[in-house]
Amino acid sequence: MIIAVSGKGGVGKTMLAALLVRTFSEDTSNLLAIDADPDSNLPEAVGVKVEKTIGDVREEILESRSRSPGSTLHDVLEGHVMDTIEETDRFDLLEMGRPEGAGCYCAVNHVLRAIIDRWAKDYDIVIIDTEAGLEHLSRRTTQDVDVMIVVTDSSKRGIETAKRIKVLASELDISFKELYVVVNRAADDMAEGIKKTLEEAGLKVLGTIPEDRNVLEFDYEGRPLTELPEDSPALQEVRRIKERLSAATGT
Ligand SMILES: Nc1ncnc2c1ncn2[C@@H]1O[C@H](COP(=O)(O)OP(=O)(O)OP(=O)(O)O)[C@@H](O)[C@H]1O
Ligand SMILES: [Mg+2]
Repeated sequence: MIIAVSGKGGVGKTMLAALLVRTFSEDTSNLLAIDADPDSNLPEAVGVKVEKTIGDVREEILESRSRSPGSTLHDVLEGHVMDTIEETDRFDLLEMGRPEGAGCYCAVNHVLRAIIDRWAKDYDIVIIDTEAGLEHLSRRTTQDVDVMIVVTDSSKRGIETAKRIKVLASELDISFKELYVVVNRAADDMAEGIKKTLEEAGLKVLGTIPEDRNVLEFDYEGRPLTELPEDSPALQEVRRIKERLSAATGT
C-alpha cells in the first residue's frame, strides 16, 4: 500500500507522515518512507541522517559521462539508487532531494522513476511526504499512490487546497483508491464545522489531530517526532487514523 501525505505549506504533512511511519512500522519492518519534498525534513522527523539523495545521483550521472561498456543507464542508476536507501531496524528511507532542473534530464528521470516504482512494490507499506501544494500531481510523483491523505488546518486556503486536489486529480486522470482529509490543529469547537464543510464537498475526513504541545517542543528541540511519548494527543489520534486506514484498505 502506497500512502502519500499532501496539503498546503506548513499544515502538518511531515508531522503526520512521521507518525504514520512510527505507527505502521510497529506492525512491519518492511516499510519505506519517501521524502519527496526538496526542502525536506522528514529524515529529522523520523530520526535518520541521509547521506545521499536521488537528486545527487541524478547530478552525478549527468556529470560523469563515463559508463562502462555494455551497461545501460538503467543498470548504472539502479546501483546508485540502492546506495541512497537508508536502512534502520524499523524502516527504510529514501530522500528524493532536489527536483529535476529545467534542462532535459528526461531519460534519467524516467529511468529513476521506473526504478523507484519497481522497488516500492517490494515493501508492505510506502509512506510519501510530499512538497506543499499540488505540483506533485502535475509532476506525477504521486500518480501511483493508493491512498492520498490531504492535511488541512482550519484556514480557508487549507480547506480549498484539499478540495482542489480532488478536482485536479480527476482532471489529470489520476485516480487514488482512497482520498482522505485529515484536519490538524483545529480548535476543538471548530473541528465539527470544518468536518461538515469538507464532507459537503464530498471529502472523507479520516481524523482530527489536536494541537499538541509535545509536537511543538520536539520540533523546537530538533528531536524526532517518532519518539513522542505514548500519551501525546497527536500520536493517539494518528493511531486511530492508522486503524481506520487499515480497516478501509484491508491491510
Ligand atoms: N498537531 C500539532 N500540534 C502542535 N504543533 C504542530 C502540530 N502539527 C504541526 N505542528 C507544528 O507546525 C509546524 C509545521 O508542521 P510540519 O512541518 O509537519 O508541516 P508541513 O506541512 O510538513 O510543512 P511544509 O509545507 O513546510 O513541509 C511544525 O513546527 C510543527 O511542530
Ligand atoms: Mg513538510
